Amino acid sequence: MNPVSEECSAPAEHALPIDLRQFLTHEHHRIHLVGVAGSGMSGLAALLIELGHTVSGSDKASTMETDRLQRLGLRFYEQHRPELAVTADLIVFSSAIKRDNPVLVAGRDSGKPIVRRAEALAAIMRAKRGIVVAGMHGKTTTSAMTAHVLRESGLHPSHYVGAEIPILGINAHWDLRGEYFVAEGDESDGTLRYFHPEHSLILNIEEEHLDFYADLAAIEEIFEQLIEQTNGTVFYNIDDANAARLCATRKNAISFGFSDAADYRGAEVDLHAFSSDFCVYSRGQKLGEAVLNVPGPHNVHNALGVIALAVELGIPFEKIAASLRKFEHARRRFEIKYESERFLLVDDYAHHPTEIRATLKTARATGRKRVLAMFQPHRYSRTKALCTWFGHAFEDADRLVVTDVYPASEPPIPGISGQTIVDEVLKRGHRAATYQPCFERIHCDIGNALDVGDLVLSLGAGNIHEQLSILAADLVIAEKLRAIVGESGEVRLYEPLSKHTTLRVGGPAQFWVEPQSENAFAALIQFCRDETLPLFVMGRGSNLLVRDGGIRGVVVHPCGGDFDKIEVNGSEITAGAGVKLREVAYAARAANLDGLEWMEGIPGVVGGALRMNAGAMGAQTFENVARIRYLDSEGNPHVKNRDELEVFYRRFPLLENNFAISATFGAQPGERAKIDNRLRESQEKRRTTQPVAKSAGCIFKNPDGIPAGKLVDELGLKNSRVGNARVSEVHGNFIVNDGGATATEMLELIDRIKQAAKTKRGIELETEVQIVGEPGS
Ligand code: EPU
Repeated sequence: MNPVSEECSAPAEHALPIDLRQFLTHEHHRIHLVGVAGSGMSGLAALLIELGHTVSGSDKASTMETDRLQRLGLRFYEQHRPELAVTADLIVFSSAIKRDNPVLVAGRDSGKPIVRRAEALAAIMRAKRGIVVAGMHGKTTTSAMTAHVLRESGLHPSHYVGAEIPILGINAHWDLRGEYFVAEGDESDGTLRYFHPEHSLILNIEEEHLDFYADLAAIEEIFEQLIEQTNGTVFYNIDDANAARLCATRKNAISFGFSDAADYRGAEVDLHAFSSDFCVYSRGQKLGEAVLNVPGPHNVHNALGVIALAVELGIPFEKIAASLRKFEHARRRFEIKYESERFLLVDDYAHHPTEIRATLKTARATGRKRVLAMFQPHRYSRTKALCTWFGHAFEDADRLVVTDVYPASEPPIPGISGQTIVDEVLKRGHRAATYQPCFERIHCDIGNALDVGDLVLSLGAGNIHEQLSILAADLVIAEKLRAIVGESGEVRLYEPLSKHTTLRVGGPAQFWVEPQSENAFAALIQFCRDETLPLFVMGRGSNLLVRDGGIRGVVVHPCGGDFDKIEVNGSEITAGAGVKLREVAYAARAANLDGLEWMEGIPGVVGGALRMNAGAMGAQTFENVARIRYLDSEGNPHVKNRDELEVFYRRFPLLENNFAISATFGAQPGERAKIDNRLRESQEKRRTTQPVAKSAGCIFKNPDGIPAGKLVDELGLKNSRVGNARVSEVHGNFIVNDGGATATEMLELIDRIKQAAKTKRGIELETEVQIVGEPGS
């Protein structure tokens, strides 16, 4: 073995002044665990509490696991304080703990016995008949399956596995009644060498943890030692070349797998979406059929190992098969987070290329149309060492989004990030892999790409499952919204609002909804009220600056159906909230109606024009409004005539809490030639005085005394910029997006202009453009 990490080779071990097995399993002491929140350490803490010790633990942060342990009796400290060593009779530390940890330093100085996690575990195991499950992949599932089968057979095993296992109730348990102790052996830090089990189950051996091991030979050395130290039987996967090479020639070895040469052979395997059926043969004789309710061929392999072991322990095959049928997955092992006919969301712990391939194959086998994967690389060292393998691992993902690396206590390695993996994947010809450095955005990237029939998979050993949980919770709401708007409407998750604003900036809308009818809109209003979801209405987005963090809640975009209707009735034109103002101007022209030509120059829709009493060419919307139809904040419809409405320059308070459905504009019969002239005049004015660029129209309201554009011009701020946001050289009241500008840049430029107007001219500029949404992270 060749340790290459200083951190993992940790404190010097010294000859213990105690008999550790006696100390841990026959006496009661005060034991302190350094790094107690880790998945392995928390299991050990549970065992020690059950063994009757007074257990304390320290970690840099509390977790759900430490909360649970506190309820069992753990004294938890959120700081590694030296005095914690002083009161302890024994200190146990995790491999993630550095040599200079204050508790370890104090413990060493005061001559306290200090042991590693695995050393303590191995000593506890020596009090029972130990069974160690080891291998690079599948050991949590397999050790849980072993403990489950032994438990169902009435053997009362104690167990220790590295994750929460709902079917076992808890990740570690000491059972006084039973003889066996089933433990997941961790190969990552060389501590497998502490175990002297009665039996071991070797699943697979390959390159992994290359932060600790120099190469495969160093890994094999540690497995060989475990095999040497196994005094009963070594059960090994014959289909894994490395495991087979190490074990095949040993007298005490029993093989399992699909190979004809396997002592326990699986055959006639039938893989289903979430289960598998297979036949089991023992040395040529059929034992019977098994059904496994966890998916994937790799789990059939794992089950064959458990069957071999259990049969050799004397458990009848029928009993084993009955227990396997009941087995449920560990948390984060192909764990279904959301399931419907339309979508399937699954979380998996896979973080090694071999595991990723296997999990993606299982995902593929569910028969869903597409597999969308979000992957969080785990550890810089693994990302670097295995990056070429990662390049081949995602062939079964139709779309892949990679986050940055989850460090797991490692310092960054320059040049290594999620992009490293994306580069490798793209090199292998994958077409749809992207890097998303902002962790909180990853669910948005995947969620926005979601289509009916998709399976979404979160992959990684860090905290990527949190992003899938957010997506799952939002999908529940999105599906309710879809039921409200029906087939003709549209619901999208995390729609980038930069696609829907004329300025082309803005983060995502949590829920983007396009209702097509007034009834659907009313039902949406009621739903948002009941669910206390914010609701924001967005028209053409022509007078809107959405911040980079997007808009939380439901963004309603009334378009199509009722909202696109336009009707001419005598000298009145009634237009839905989604109709472009320009269309109203041309409908009036077609009907030879006069007075609405100015609308030609407004890029927005009727709803937006009402909301802000938009104007151009000296006219404003409400000068032409006869009446409006709107929904109140409870979704009830109302119609109000112009004289009942309070309206101001660029402000219409009623629609601040109510929602426009349509407006009826009054016009008067006119001559086509005169109408055409005025339309041309408006076009000409726009063409000559306003920029042809991505903008939100005028940014500021005109203050008293001077048009804002003229003021900005006089301040000499034309063409000034922040990033890609720039004051137009054509008109000082327009800020244009030169391409890829952010809301943050826009807002900073707006601020600079306001500052200049205030300090140089004493004028308080007020924005006309509506600024909404959350700041970007
Ligand atoms: N001016 C300058 N320099 C400039 C811009 C303007 O000296 O860079 C001068 C113009 O020469 C003119 C005066 O300022 O003498 C007013 O300019 P303009 O005629 O362009 O009108 P505005 O008040 O800037 C308003 C609306 C526009 C609408 C136009 C045309 C406001 C805040 N803006 O602009 O509406 O298109 O009239 O009718 O009321 C909008 O609301 O988004 C919008 C674009």
